[in-house]
This record gives sequence, C-alpha cells and structure tokens, in this order.
Amino acid sequence: MNIALCPTSDIPDPGSKAFELDHNGKTLAIFVIHREGQFHGYINSCPHTGINLEWQEDQFLDSEQSLIQCSMHGALFEIDTGHCIHGPCAGDNLTPVPVEIIDNRLIAIV
Ligand code: FES
Repeated sequence: MNIALCPTSDIPDPGSKAFELDHNGKTLAIFVIHREGQFHGYINSCPHTGINLEWQEDQFLDSEQSLIQCSMHGALFEIDTGHCIHGPCAGDNLTPVPVEIIDNRLIAIV
C-alpha cells in the first residue's frame, strides 16, 4: 500500500522526520532521513528494546548528522543501510520502509 507522507521540502537535507501511519487499522511508526539528496525510511523501533529512536521530535541523527542515533543508549546506525555499527545492538538492523518520490511528494510503501 502506498501512503503519502509529506512534500519532500518538509524534510531538510540533512534532516529527519517521524510519521505515524494508519496501516490496516493499526498505527505504524516510521521515520525518514533525508541526506545527500536521498531519502531512507525505517520503522521507528530500535532493535535493542523496540522503543522509538528520536531524542526530540523529528530528531534521529547524531550531532554530525552522519548516522542515525538511538536516544536511549546511543546505538548508531548507518543512514543508507540501517545497520547498527556501535552500541548494545551492534550488528542488528533497523527495518527498512521503502520510500519513493512522486510529484515532489514522499510516498511510503508499506
Ligand atoms: S534502546 Fe536503542 S540503544 Fe538501547
């Protein structure tokens, strides 16, 4: 199912944004990272404990904005793969959510 998220211009580069989607009657929490012109979507659930990752609203990146950082115990994930390279869940992966751009709008495929 394709779900429209927002205009692409709503997420700065680099930047990130959280979304709560209605998916078959359930709420699906995802987030999207925008970096170097590319968009990457993931389920908003840290593989360590399952909590949401952001430390403030729509803030998923580390201070250098080069990695995704979990707010709880500081796990770091590659933006383009979701692979955890540091922290208590090193070696695990975020669950990807494919996103595409149609008419300058971001679409999640869930
Ligand atoms: S809950 Fe994400 S690193 Fe522990």
